Amino acid sequence: MYKKKKGKKPLLMKSNIVIYDAKTFTKNVSDFTNKIIEGNCTEVMKAIPDNSIDLIFADPPYNLQLQNILIRPNNSIVNGVNDNWDKFGSFEEYDEFIKNWLYECQRILKKTGTIWVIGAYHNIFRVGKVMQDLGFWILNDVVWIKTNPMPNFRGVRFTNAHETLIWATKDKYSKKYTFNYKLMKEMNNGKQMRSDWYFSLCTGDERIKDENGQKVHSTQKPEKLLTRIILATSKEGDIVLDPFAGTGTTGYIAKKFGRNYIMIEKEHKYIEVINKRLKELDDDLFVSRKSENKILVKT
Ligand SMILES: C[S@@+](CC[C@H](N)C(=O)[O-])C[C@H]1O[C@@H](n2cnc3c(N)ncnc32)[C@H](O)[C@@H]1O
Repeated sequence: MYKKKKGKKPLLMKSNIVIYDAKTFTKNVSDFTNKIIEGNCTEVMKAIPDNSIDLIFADPPYNLQLQNILIRPNNSIVNGVNDNWDKFGSFEEYDEFIKNWLYECQRILKKTGTIWVIGAYHNIFRVGKVMQDLGFWILNDVVWIKTNPMPNFRGVRFTNAHETLIWATKDKYSKKYTFNYKLMKEMNNGKQMRSDWYFSLCTGDERIKDENGQKVHSTQKPEKLLTRIILATSKEGDIVLDPFAGTGTTGYIAKKFGRNYIMIEKEHKYIEVINKRLKELDDDLFVSRKSENKILVKT
């Protein structure tokens, strides 16, 4: 199994896992392509060349600022987002954080590329302001409407049933970005795809669990969401980068549809989760290619 060792860098313990070390990375995008990189995304992206990435999907910490434990009417505790990676000291600290990684995203994005950032009411307005201040050009905001949202248990607010995605180009002069309009229309029964998307939360078999049956990540995004984003706004062979990879949903879908990926994640515990997920996809793709060729299929 993959193990982090102190003092020996860079570590290429498995073919596609790398622990980031600024001294040893060259500034070739191929050093990063189809890799899972353990590190702080702002630092890692500093080593990626200008104008080299086709698509970025960023699902940053929400800065939820949770004050209390949330209890259901049956007294069970809601297993929400209570992770250290989501904690910031103040709005100023959070704003500085988003400004730093968004700056790098903008620099490495190609003129023909686009970026998606997803967030909730806690953070998306701050993200949007910083993006506009940096000069990103917003193309759409898309609303992911959750068909199975968590109720507002205390009955003091509306059910929070959506998240917002901002889709933008590098700047207002970037006009030739990828948008697979016809494909989207086909996928929407011949009607123009709209900006309100209905998908359920990531549940069932798709939700990655540990050996005790607990979800390994509090905010794993649904594959259908990433499928739409990647099919709509990238081409086969493109490089898709996710600075906050989590369980690696972006890399998984990118690979599934013939795109290259760069996954950056700072928490060591998620790195092997991503690796395993991508390896399972390798096996599935191998089996489906074999079955296409009518050769022996896995039993
Ligand atoms: C909202 S989650 C992303 C979930 C992911 N989209 C998925 O489908 O599983 C944010 C992730 O960013 C990681 N993270 C937070 N700060 C980071 C940083 N500075 N650099 C890299 N990763 C970071 C967290 O560990 C967490 O896994």
